[in-house]
Amino acid sequence: MRNSRRCIVTGGCGFIGSALVRHLCREGREVLVVDKLTYAGNVESLKEAEGKYTLLVKDICDQEAMDSAFAEFRPDTIFHLAAESHVDRSIDGPGEFVRTNVVGTATLLQSALKYWKTLPDRDAFVFQHISTDEVYGTLGDTGFFTEKTPYSPHSPYSASKASSDHLVRAWRDTYGMPTLITNCSNNYGPYQFPEKLIPLFINNIRHRKPLPVYGKGENVRDWLFVEDHARAIDIIYHKGVVAETYNIGGFNEWKNIDIIKTVIKTVDRLLGRPEGADLDLITYVTDRAGHDMRYAIDSTKLQRELGWEPSLQFEEGIERTVRWYLDNQEWLDNITSGEYEKYYEDMYKNR
Ligand code: NAD
Ligand code: TYD
Repeated sequence: MRNSRRCIVTGGCGFIGSALVRHLCREGREVLVVDKLTYAGNVESLKEAEGKYTLLVKDICDQEAMDSAFAEFRPDTIFHLAAESHVDRSIDGPGEFVRTNVVGTATLLQSALKYWKTLPDRDAFVFQHISTDEVYGTLGDTGFFTEKTPYSPHSPYSASKASSDHLVRAWRDTYGMPTLITNCSNNYGPYQFPEKLIPLFINNIRHRKPLPVYGKGENVRDWLFVEDHARAIDIIYHKGVVAETYNIGGFNEWKNIDIIKTVIKTVDRLLGRPEGADLDLITYVTDRAGHDMRYAIDSTKLQRELGWEPSLQFEEGIERTVRWYLDNQEWLDNITSGEYEKYYEDMYKNR
């Protein structure tokens, strides 16, 4: 079993990255967060771990900065999460997705390789790449994505993530650098940027704004609570077989419209409104271009071989998530007002 003390986490100020950093800090690990602080990066999401991690505000495409990060911090692991992550944005502007997700990953791999070659114990190091089930494409009414499902991405986002997965495998196969790849289903939970379905809708219901349901709302996603994902990443780090891929998911498929109704009823109840009072906010809009119909992930390998399982039932996870957003309205309002971006811009301008 591997036992890292020093980890770099790229994208550690994002939704999943911050959950992972909070987890690693609780476990007493030394953490260097590398994050460019795009619109999706927020240091506020790491408040709980304040004083327990170091932050390096840099772009993963900056080769020199990444070389120095490895040489100076001397990690025994890197968890690579930094990415552009929203499908709709990738449709509007794919360039940044290719830059960060593809070029950024290749840049990071080069810096990791250079550093890895200097290590006395090369087997002790792992480059762990965090990816998505969207690389596998879309499913019909039945079946699951397994680790052997051929890649068939459709959106610029999933195509850029598929490219990054291939690059990671290439660095393993060509140079022998130890790698692990994890492909996870849709995450939900605290600190998710309110452009993704669940936090966007919670925020809109709060303000009684329309809820834009793409197409007929019949697309299916497989949902996992973000803290279960963070725990899975760390279990795979400790016990996963080098060069392998692990699918992460909770066997928890939902049609969008059913989730939306559950979220509306939960928000209504917690705000003291009559349950279902806001169902009339549902507004069917033009479908997303190339909208994948169904994702469903088979995580049997992770569950059987490494003993991970999700800790939360979906209804409980949704309740906790809605409660969190309602209790942390300031976090939401800062983001939606754009004030936090200006704050960090000023704060880091002179670094
Ligand atoms: P996010 O958008 O919330 O956070 C991304 C983070 O990366 C932000 O902190 C941002 O500032 C940082 N970043 C972006 N570009 C950067 C760059 N060029 N250099 C340095 N930092 C940069 O994303 P997320 O939802 O937390 O996803 C994290 C990872 O997990 C991504 O790789 C994503 O593909 C993968 N993933 C996400 C989900 C999901 O449901 N959200 C599911 C499976 C896998
Ligand atoms: P999203 O949270 O963007 O994740 P992904 O596209 O990576 O699965 O979307 C989840 C599902 O919800 C997806 O099928 C698209 C749909 N959706 C809407 O219907 N309306 C919205 O406003 C958003 C953001 C998503």
